[in-house]
Amino acid sequence: MLHELVDLRPYNTLALSVRAQYFCEVSGPDELQAALSWAHAKNLPVLPMGEGSNMVLTRDYPGLVLRLMDHSLQVGYEDEVCVHIRAGAGMAWHQLVEKTLALGWFGLENLALIPGTVGAAPVQNIGAYGVEIAAFILSVDCVNIASGERFIFDKAGCQFSYRNSIFKQQLLGKTVVTSVVFILSKKPQVNTQYAALHNYLSGYPHTEITPHTVKEAVCAIRRMRLPDPTITPNAGSFFKNPQIDAAHFAQLQKDNPAIAFYTGEQGRVKLAAAWLIEQSGWKGRCIGDACVHDQQALVLINRGHANGTEILALANSIAADVYTRFAVQLEYEPWVW
Ligand code: EPU
Repeated sequence: MLHELVDLRPYNTLALSVRAQYFCEVSGPDELQAALSWAHAKNLPVLPMGEGSNMVLTRDYPGLVLRLMDHSLQVGYEDEVCVHIRAGAGMAWHQLVEKTLALGWFGLENLALIPGTVGAAPVQNIGAYGVEIAAFILSVDCVNIASGERFIFDKAGCQFSYRNSIFKQQLLGKTVVTSVVFILSKKPQVNTQYAALHNYLSGYPHTEITPHTVKEAVCAIRRMRLPDPTITPNAGSFFKNPQIDAAHFAQLQKDNPAIAFYTGEQGRVKLAAAWLIEQSGWKGRCIGDACVHDQQALVLINRGHANGTEILALANSIAADVYTRFAVQLEYEPWVW
């Protein structure tokens, strides 16, 4: 059903109040195609939304906001070792993690409790605790916004990299993800290399470290460090962890021996943006109702009635200070309207 002049505050996790000129929930590709034709006939731009957990809305949207409501889960190929499943774009990501674990299909446990929907997950190649969703994706089903045509992108076509994919680059604003096909393992294999996870599980006997224990550990760590968006509005990490070349890193490490870092892509070093922000004195600070979370400096929160422009003003002040201090440019993670 089509609604007019809808406040999007309940539909984005930063709880930013802007209005959509039109708003519509669609159940699957057929209803989506019908909604797209309607919008084209009226010459309106179209904004697909999941749970709005990775966006900063700064002004009203003069077009059609679409929410995909497909929560389906279908099983395809299956043998003793693996299973292929297709999940509808509207399913909450954590629900997929829970369902697959309960069915004995493993792999997604490190990605427990990430806000957002299945459809949004490949767009930014969600990742946490040493695992990225790309490792489990076989293909992504999409609809082209301009033509209404359906497309399937195989994994290579998705061009996944750290918090990035073709959907965030060349296809930004041009496609809607309608479902995602995953390959999961029936043999429990755990990945506990990420330092925080490894430390959390260090007291557990080896035999007790199962995918279920890992999921519980990830949930416990996230609950300790990351604010629950249903209580404290936020969009997860606000900045990507920046990647710099080895020479720049060597210089920074010389001046800052405690600098936090990971192995990056193509020989680069990935820095913990949270560390850079905390060292720049921003952890826990606010500009109006826009604040830096006091447990995880990478997360910006709306503690009341901040608007998108205020959130961005805070983000820009942080990025400027980090640049002055470390000559490292921070990049936003969420999409900005
Ligand atoms: N740190 C600080 N201050 C802080 C928080 C962290 O100095 O306030 C330093 C610590 O040294 C810590 C290091 O930063 O060891 C890393 O912190 P953390 O393990 O919390 O991870 P992160 O690099 O800050 C990334 C992802 C998170 C993901 C975690 C765990 C990005 C942009 N963020 O954060 O993803 O949950 O790793 O894997 O890559 C998200 O994308 O929304 C998100 C929350």
